[in-house]
Amino acid sequence: MAGSREQFGSKIGFILAAAGSAVGIGNLVGFPVGAAKNGGGAFLLMYAIFVVAICLPVMIAEMSVGRASQKDPLGAYTNLSKSNPLWRFAGWLSVITPFMIAVFYLVITVWIFGYLFESLIGNLDELAKPETFGGFVSGNSLFVYMIGVLLVVYAILQGGVKQGIEKAAKILMPALFAMLVLLVIFVLFQDNAMAGVKFYLVPDFDKINAGVVNGALSQAFFSLSLGMGIMITYGSYINKKADLPESAKLVALTDTAVAFTAGLMILPAIFSFNPEVNTNELSESSISMIFSYLPQIFLELQSSIGYVGSSIVASLFFLLVFFAAITSLVSIFEVPVSSLMSEKGVSRKSSLFICGALLVVFALMCAFSFGFFEFFTSFINYAGADKSFFDVVYDVFYDTILPLNGLLICMFVSYRWKKLGFNAELEQGAPNYKTSLLAKYVNFSLGTFIPGILALIFINTV
Ligand code: PHE
Repeated sequence: MAGSREQFGSKIGFILAAAGSAVGIGNLVGFPVGAAKNGGGAFLLMYAIFVVAICLPVMIAEMSVGRASQKDPLGAYTNLSKSNPLWRFAGWLSVITPFMIAVFYLVITVWIFGYLFESLIGNLDELAKPETFGGFVSGNSLFVYMIGVLLVVYAILQGGVKQGIEKAAKILMPALFAMLVLLVIFVLFQDNAMAGVKFYLVPDFDKINAGVVNGALSQAFFSLSLGMGIMITYGSYINKKADLPESAKLVALTDTAVAFTAGLMILPAIFSFNPEVNTNELSESSISMIFSYLPQIFLELQSSIGYVGSSIVASLFFLLVFFAAITSLVSIFEVPVSSLMSEKGVSRKSSLFICGALLVVFALMCAFSFGFFEFFTSFINYAGADKSFFDVVYDVFYDTILPLNGLLICMFVSYRWKKLGFNAELEQGAPNYKTSLLAKYVNFSLGTFIPGILALIFINTV
């Protein structure tokens, strides 16, 4: 069946799709908030080093495993390890993890879609009230929004790789860049904006400690969509002539540039809203930032640009985040969908319906974690606290399994598939790769300190 595998139509299409996966809520909100709380420029510097030194080699490894095997993650591990059971287990993890992350990511995307809709119809004053979010996440309108998001995802994925994923990325990503730049320019013209820029960029090395270092690395890893089987799957859709190391560099660069630019939007906005802001107390999470803090800032704008103006700004912001979230959601859901297609030989449509039905069941359990049902809200008790079903999925898959998957792919490429096959795959499309400094670095790091660091993170969270 290898010959009939779907493919991206162009190099730029592949890069936009992979960048679409990488650019998500993490970039637009998680990164700026993380940078603000953890030493500004010092955090940025550390983050940039992690992207280049640790994440880039892992991304190259994932893409090459996908392209060499021309399979989904389970098929790729099975194929290249000649059906070794241990590596098949790694393959299973690379399919289950994205599915479970898709579950909680879907729920957050649904909230964003709801907020987008509410700001479009002029309900910004409602959204800015502190109690609104709590009511929203446990209200029935959520189900309507969920259907909306699922329809968008279905509309994209039923078109397949070229007519679905690639086409959507080619429309959504340029729109996303344009909206981001527009919002940054707007925000920079607000009073006191420069204080925010300064706070974002001036390094404070005293804030750096072990926890911050770990957080920066996890953020970079998640932001580049690593450890989720996505780059393996997308890699399996590129032709052999494409230069993989080059593509990986462009994806990493785009992702980091968007994250950096988002900081120029979020921090000046915060400072112009409240010049006295105590950045240590900046919202605990991206979630409270998006759904509580920012709507207040948007509403505040009405004194200068009127209610309609501030509603437009809010709508633009939520549309930006929605586009970022949709391209990520599509990429992560494609992993189980493509796995079921190639492992069981079912059609794309059937796979979408089967995986989609499962996704809805789990997503509802996550959505019920916010006050619908006590059972899901206080699902289990560990680490001294009641955890909801949503928390459990997040802690297990995002915090714990993600670094494990990263560790496994490094070990797989270095010690099972081995450098010979790995490098031969990369040389197709990049004839000079073998003798490059990058190749030496990638080969060395993937077999030594990168899996070491990922193992430390994994053990630490367990
Ligand atoms: N890279 C995404 C982000 O920064 C993370 C992600 C990718 C989440 C794909 C889900 C699916 O938000």
